[in-house]
Amino acid sequence: MKHQGKFSLAKHFFLMAVALLGAWLIFPSISMAQPFFKGAKLCEECHEAETKIWKKTKHYTSFRTVHREPKSADKPSPKKILAAVGGQKRMKRNETCYLCHYTLEQKGADTKPAAKSGTSCESCHGASSDWLALHDNYGGKDVKREQETSDHKMKRVADSQAAGLIWPSMQFEVAENCMTCHGLAHPDLKADDLAKMLGAGHPINPNFELVKYSQGSVRHRHYAPDIKTNAEMTPQELARLYVIGQAAALVSATEAISKSGEAKYKEAQNKRVEIAKSTLSKVSEAAGLLTAPTRENALNFVKSIAGKDLTGVIGSMLPAKTDYK
Ligand code: HEC
Ligand code: HEC
Ligand code: HEC
Ligand code: HEC
Repeated sequence: MKHQGKFSLAKHFFLMAVALLGAWLIFPSISMAQPFFKGAKLCEECHEAETKIWKKTKHYTSFRTVHREPKSADKPSPKKILAAVGGQKRMKRNETCYLCHYTLEQKGADTKPAAKSGTSCESCHGASSDWLALHDNYGGKDVKREQETSDHKMKRVADSQAAGLIWPSMQFEVAENCMTCHGLAHPDLKADDLAKMLGAGHPINPNFELVKYSQGSVRHRHYAPDIKTNAEMTPQELARLYVIGQAAALVSATEAISKSGEAKYKEAQNKRVEIAKSTLSKVSEAAGLLTAPTRENALNFVKSIAGKDLTGVIGSMLPAKTDYK
């Protein structure tokens, strides 16, 4: 009797597990909370050099300045933009402004998020709650970088990526992420709020270009074997990055055009499409992307130019170092 009871209990648990697994397969989000931002202080513990560089960028410094009213009347007024959008009256708390201007940090999944810094590490590399512990684990506490097996490395990279890490080597994904903010194309930004922001003088810059914006104050490139050096890109790397930026701009702007009927917005997005098309038309590998500017075609395009030297066609378009932001 006792034996049978145990058996049916086990069977019961087994069936429950099967049912739960079934539910998870159909609704995988049930058990997985939304990833959240842990904050740049944590990254600093291991990434000192990158943090030092970030602290000199506008992403960092604007935390203390952007909400202040400018002295000059031609500059955008945060007060006017806030008033137009409505909701919370302080930029740091406003649910529209914090999408791009701040990092809403959380200690844990259940703690209240608060804006603790401007645009930061995780704004570009992805909210880290799910990937932090995976990304630097070479296969156990005692395993050093040099000892990691190549299978483990592949799995580590893939698992962290699945958990939301945008690896620096994923240049298209990095670029498309810049666009969500710099192209005013954030998926959580409501079309209504966008129109109100622009109406109240919020800037939109159709000339955001990836080389110019990523190789100046923002650049941090400390790679093996010379990890102490913040290396500059070679002309070949710059040329590829330039067209990758245009591919990301093309896809983002094409999608964004339908997001709002606001005239200023449409004009800026059309301008971005025009700039991107005229650049990409010089690169034969981009033919498919130009015909159908989808994300999938952009990713294929980026694959097709891997390792290629495009300086012959793109070299003259690269911005001068003195123009880097
Ligand atoms: C406990 C130490 C530690 C912490 C904390 C940490 N990292 Fe890392 N991170 C590492 C190590 C070690 C590597 C190198 C992994 C490798 O060899 O591929 C790494 C790699 C990376 C890379 C990829 C670098 C490359 O070469 O491709 C990025 C991006 C990154 N970390 C971002 C962050 C961010 C953002 C945070 C904060 C949310 C953070 N890390 C917190 C230790 C850490
Ligand atoms: C979709 C992303 C996004 C959202 C949402 C957003 N901004 Fe911005 N904002 C930007 C970007 C990007 C810039 C820099 C534009 C440029 O100069 O290229 C900027 C610039 C500004 C500036 C000018 C700063 C300066 O240094 O001149 C002000 C002021 C501003 N935003 C206020 C606001 C307010 C207030 C809200 C909320 C109602 C808001 N923004 C929401 C992305 C955003
Ligand atoms: C504006 C977006 C942006 C921000 C903010 C940012 N990164 Fe990066 N990060 C990048 C890009 C782009 C690369 C790729 C550089 C390359 O390979 O050309 C990169 C590369 C890296 C790398 C590998 C290269 C290196 O220097 O080690 C690490 C590690 C890293 N970032 C960590 C951080 C940390 C930590 C912070 C915050 C203190 C941070 N990043 C902030 C965009 C950003
Ligand atoms: C989460 C939103 C967000 C992301 C992602 C983001 N930025 Fe920004 N960035 C901003 C905002 C907002 C400003 C304007 C800050 C201000 O003016 O006060 C800005 C400003 C800048 C500036 C300073 C521009 C100037 O005129 O001085 C540079 C350079 C820049 N971003 C580069 C990049 C690059 C390159 C990427 C991607 C690798 C990137 N940003 C990703 C929000 C973002």
